[in-house]
Amino acid sequence: MRSTAIAIDVNGQEQEALVRPATTLLALLRDQLGLTAAKRGCEQGGCGACCVLLDGKPVMSCLVPAMAVDGRSVRTLEGLAHGEELHPVQEAFLEEWATQCGFCTSGMIMTALALLEERPDPSRDEVVRALSGNVCRCTGYEAIIDAVMAAAGRMQAPMRQAAE
Ligand code: FES
Ligand code: FES
Repeated sequence: MRSTAIAIDVNGQEQEALVRPATTLLALLRDQLGLTAAKRGCEQGGCGACCVLLDGKPVMSCLVPAMAVDGRSVRTLEGLAHGEELHPVQEAFLEEWATQCGFCTSGMIMTALALLEERPDPSRDEVVRALSGNVCRCTGYEAIIDAVMAAAGRMQAPMRQAAE
């Protein structure tokens, strides 16, 4: 089957790639672009380990055909930190001990980021609902939920300071 050339914005950088009809966004990121934060878990949409943001919305990248992202914008965990400076969601995950083996962490953080960008001050129930498609086999979830709540506070702090 013939490959098709696509161009996508990944973490603010224009990328070009040749993809086949069966190539998923996850495979494109990991195997062709070398961005391995999104994890290859179930590859059936059931674990959330592969979550990235597509035009700002969280998607399971294992279910998205790479051809469908031509001309669109993708954010992955690799794009969050600025040099040594972690994103507030990453900082909160570290401080709340919300990661153990780390396999789920990229997907958790990207799902949390999508929630917090749309809803900066979520309730705990809203966080639980937002993360319901992300599986963690290690932490028991409480620390992850704590981290997302803490991240909401961290992301709002600069806005509060500016308003004072
Ligand atoms: S690897 Fe995509 S949802 Fe599990
Ligand atoms: S930290 Fe191991 S699966 Fe979540």
